[in-house]
Amino acid sequence: VAAQSLDLSHQTGTTRVWIGPGALAQAAAEVSPWLGRRKVFVVSSAPVRKLHRRSIDSLLDAAADVVELEVPDGESAKSFATVERLTREMVIAGGKRDSRLVILGGGTVGDVGGFTAGCFLRGIDYAQIPTTLLAQVDAAIGGKTAVNLPEAKNAVGLFVQPRWVISDDRFLRTLPPEAIRQALFEIVKTAILGDRALFELVESSLEKLLAGDPEVLAQAVQRTAAVKIGIVAADEREGDRRRLLNLGHTLGHALETVVGHGELAHGDAVGYGLLFATVLGERNQLAGPDAERIRRLLGRMGLPRLAGLEARALSEVMARDKKARESGLAWVLPVAIGGAEVVELARGAVDHELASFLEGSVE
Ligand SMILES: NC(=O)c1ccc[n+]([C@@H]2O[C@H](COP(=O)([O-])OP(=O)(O)OC[C@H]3O[C@@H](n4cnc5c(N)ncnc54)[C@H](O)[C@@H]3O)[C@@H](O)[C@H]2O)c1
Ligand SMILES: [Zn+2]
Repeated sequence: VAAQSLDLSHQTGTTRVWIGPGALAQAAAEVSPWLGRRKVFVVSSAPVRKLHRRSIDSLLDAAADVVELEVPDGESAKSFATVERLTREMVIAGGKRDSRLVILGGGTVGDVGGFTAGCFLRGIDYAQIPTTLLAQVDAAIGGKTAVNLPEAKNAVGLFVQPRWVISDDRFLRTLPPEAIRQALFEIVKTAILGDRALFELVESSLEKLLAGDPEVLAQAVQRTAAVKIGIVAADEREGDRRRLLNLGHTLGHALETVVGHGELAHGDAVGYGLLFATVLGERNQLAGPDAERIRRLLGRMGLPRLAGLEARALSEVMARDKKARESGLAWVLPVAIGGAEVVELARGAVDHELASFLEGSVE
């Protein structure tokens, strides 16, 4: 597999996305002139900088001046405090409207870095260089940026598209196996909603993927990113098409809230969400054999046991979901492996299914 480049057209122009082995080297010819003779802010966190900052040295050669900005590692980076500190450092360093910002890191650095780029002097051009599997297949693509409030995750944000996304496979080699397993749930989500061949790739190569096999991983990243790019290009601002990406996330988010974000990982929560969407899908159009295949694959990925969950508590949280509408909750349901649709379901009907789902899968 070699690096692939895909273009995402949107309201403000085009984002070119390079994905796979050699992506950094391949992107350099186009990205260097964009950085040429400018002040370039590089946003990263300490652990990522230590592991991978040197990988982008030659890319940054063209810059007149490189200013390193550091954010805390992990979710705590996504705060107004970080944005205030970064923007002040940028002013002090002489940042201008035509300065550039380059983000090196996972989804947290990407979200706060993108938000900062979108706000600073009302917006400067930026590039995403995602270093986690989750960021390469999901967070770095699509222009959603956000910070958290103490009251709510991702509550304040902007749609602001990066100029470039460079997803080099070299970064994935240092990821812990658990980070790969968690991100695989998003890959499976994407396969179910839009790419049957990707689903079959994960089915046939799950063990290799979990072991971080670079070849299969590169194929899976390219296919997953391609589906997301296609959806975002068709629907940048979250109409029905983009909502498909929320497959598995309605129950998933509620589980994270009820069980606790520190207790249940996002990927596992989405795994349960996908199982439940499959149950609801079967009540709709999803055929039994496809539903069975989805269950079998998710079963092989290993989900933690959940104890003592009440359907009512989850239902309350889902009703407060930021994606809920007045009329009820729009559910994304698989109609087949490789296709999904948004269906509005009455709360009572879902609660009923949820109660029996929990009896079946919770100890
Ligand atoms: N904007 C979007 O569309 C979107 C989509 C999905 C998720 N997100 C956001 O993404 C965030 C989660 O992203 P994440 O899972 O990448 O988390 P993260 O950015 O916190 O990274 C997880 C950990 O991996 C480490 N790490 C990063 N790259 C590494 C590498 N190459 N090798 C070894 N370790 C490395 C980091 O230091 C960090 O400790 C959440 O805040 C979520 O809300 C955003
Ligand atoms: Zn997710």
